[in-house]
Amino acid sequence: MIKILMVCLGNICRSPLAEGILKSKMNPQNFLIDSAGTAAYHKGNAPDKRSIEVARKYGINIADQKARKFTIKDFDTFNYIFVMDDRNYQDILMLARNQKEESKVQMILNEIHPTQNLSVPDPYYGANQGFEHVYTMLEEACEIIANKLS
Ligand code: 4NP
Repeated sequence: MIKILMVCLGNICRSPLAEGILKSKMNPQNFLIDSAGTAAYHKGNAPDKRSIEVARKYGINIADQKARKFTIKDFDTFNYIFVMDDRNYQDILMLARNQKEESKVQMILNEIHPTQNLSVPDPYYGANQGFEHVYTMLEEACEIIANKLS
């Protein structure tokens, strides 16, 4: 079983989309895919309505996800930890206890643009169009991840 964790700040906008998109491409018998936030602001909440809507538009249901905060134990559970932006990267890396754990953490857009360390913009305070833009980026990144790992 390969285990993949998607991480953003609130776990209600970007990482739930990344989780839903990647799940739609992978066989659940072989892959465990989850998401978490570096902050607990929205713990237990469903994803942002705008993320639910844009996913639904592309045939993906993320409405049943519940936000949770990243914990150090996630380093034990997951093989790959994809973060959405450079702040998430710093926050998660700070928690890593050794080099092996550090090496699990990757900027998700490096799958599309290797070594460029580009961030998925936080759409929370923006317009709906931001969610469409985020969806497109995550769809492309997840397609690459799916091809690599399956
Ligand atoms: P996310 O977006 O990290 O993509 O889930 C955010 C959601 C909530 C907040 C910030 C970003 N917030 O400040 O509450």
